[in-house]
Amino acid sequence: MHAGRQIPQVIFKTRFRDDKVEGPNPFRWQDMTTADYYAGKRVIVFSLPGAFTPTCSTYQLPDFEKLAPQFKGLGIEEIYCVSVNDAFVMNAWGKSQNLLNIKLIPDGSAEFTRKMGMLVAKDNLGFGMRSWRYAATVNDCIVEEWFEEDGYCDNCAEDPYGVSDPNNILSNLKTKVAA
Ligand code: BEZ
Repeated sequence: MHAGRQIPQVIFKTRFRDDKVEGPNPFRWQDMTTADYYAGKRVIVFSLPGAFTPTCSTYQLPDFEKLAPQFKGLGIEEIYCVSVNDAFVMNAWGKSQNLLNIKLIPDGSAEFTRKMGMLVAKDNLGFGMRSWRYAATVNDCIVEEWFEEDGYCDNCAEDPYGVSDPNNILSNLKTKVAA
């Protein structure tokens, strides 16, 4: 995916809290489209190999959460984290991370990730198909800036993390504003 390209139009199967739902699990299915998340907004999307994995849970997601006010100051209206995990897993991960600023998007059947060209096999870890790490700024569904980790490959022995680190993305956006 390169700058100037439109992101894939797909339907995400999410679980929304709805207090009208009785019982111990007051959530219902809610289909969300790419347009629901991205139309008419400038956002950051980042993607990672899996909910609850160590680098994602210890660094990437909490660092985006911490830096969100700075991104917002640079005109970013939303920050989305996409992972090839189902809505139940993504909701449980979000709850465990006490997120205020980041919205988690479940891409359980990997359609968005595949159409972004970022789907990789992680059978070496028993993960099946997952996302390569990347991030992008996206304006009204069009990619503005693309941050992809080097070495895209199936069953990669490494898990490179640097280009899509929010600190790197923030420096890059600040440089663009200053230029
Ligand atoms: C990590 O985030 O540390 C991680 C990601 C994928 C597989 C194993 C670990």
